[in-house]
Amino acid sequence: MAPMTRNFSPGGIPSPGVADYYRRRAAADVGLIVTEGVGVDHPAALGRESVGGGASPVLHGETALARWREVVAAAHEEGGKIVPQLWHQGVIRAPGTGYHPEAPSARPSGTWGPTEGAMVPPDYLELVRQDTAPLTESEIGDIIAGFARSAANARAVGFDGVALHGAHGYLIDSFIWQQTNRRADGWGGDLPARARFAAEVIRAVRAATAPDFPIVFRFSQWKLQDYDARIAATPAELEALLAPLVDAGVDVLDASTRIFTRPAFEGSDLGLAGWAKKLTGKPTMAVGGVGLDKDLQSSFAQPTVMTDNLALVAERVAKGEFDLVGVGRALLMDAQWVRRTREGQAVNPFRLEAYGSLD
Ligand SMILES: Cc1cc2nc3c(=O)[nH]c(=O)nc-3n(C[C@H](O)[C@H](O)[C@H](O)COP(=O)(O)O)c2cc1C
Repeated sequence: MAPMTRNFSPGGIPSPGVADYYRRRAAADVGLIVTEGVGVDHPAALGRESVGGGASPVLHGETALARWREVVAAAHEEGGKIVPQLWHQGVIRAPGTGYHPEAPSARPSGTWGPTEGAMVPPDYLELVRQDTAPLTESEIGDIIAGFARSAANARAVGFDGVALHGAHGYLIDSFIWQQTNRRADGWGGDLPARARFAAEVIRAVRAATAPDFPIVFRFSQWKLQDYDARIAATPAELEALLAPLVDAGVDVLDASTRIFTRPAFEGSDLGLAGWAKKLTGKPTMAVGGVGLDKDLQSSFAQPTVMTDNLALVAERVAKGEFDLVGVGRALLMDAQWVRRTREGQAVNPFRLEAYGSLD
């Protein structure tokens, strides 16, 4: 199950329905659940969401941790595995919003990035487009320490590993992307230098957990600031980005794409997950459009139909292109999607209203 923000955790505390929401998926044979984005232990981690509410969970404080214990137990009772997606919204957090509105938003170079082609509504863009102060050295250290504390908490409450949100233009990705990282110190420069923040987070998470505690890292070409953005224009650039993450101790690379079959670079059919595996030898996860006929963005505007395209997934898994496949929207529409698809039964139809429910 791919990570999907749900906004059912007012004050950062998962509401009682969250455990059952994940339990239903584990019970219907989802192998690995990556939870919704969970704010790391840093005041500027979460703000008002670009789409929807602003009730994402956190993974610190007694009450939140007690609720997460229940969520983890629910998934485990059904034979599932579950990891939280650790999230710092960074550049994308609207200043003055979230659980700590007084905290300044965290931006590598103070900039939101380009404003053309952004996937956020115009009123949101107005809140974030102004430049702010770039992060200082000590602020960067505080955020890395926040990731490490949250990862240690994840392990303490029984999660099977952690997933790091290094995609879509949020904080980790904003260090990687040249448009949002103009720094000339040790945190900016060429691709390996821009990957340093991600690598330091991975190192700190590893040090705060255990040598065998799985760390999944999500990355993407596309950004909320620019759906057509690319951080790696060639396989060599992708390698320059991923090598420092592998050195730092990442276990699984989750390549977030719109459609998992789309070639990542000219001259090859390999998707982004396939390239990540070929270049690093690490297990990879593909995602995007499994069980559906439209990508995430198109499905907001165009009629979307549930489609059985699992033969394409199986073919690529058999070829060794990737090892895991993430299923997002199909699992929101139907908690039973895995079981029903496997047994050849009809699944629930696509409906945008499912985004607003915890069914
Ligand atoms: C409602 C919703 C919320 C999402 N929230 C997150 C999130 O918190 N973190 C993340 O990395 N991706 C998030 N995504 C992206 C999904 O993880 C996934 O990559 C995307 O939906 C494509 O997969 P799909 O075609 O199977 O839906 C979200 C997607 C949806 C539909």
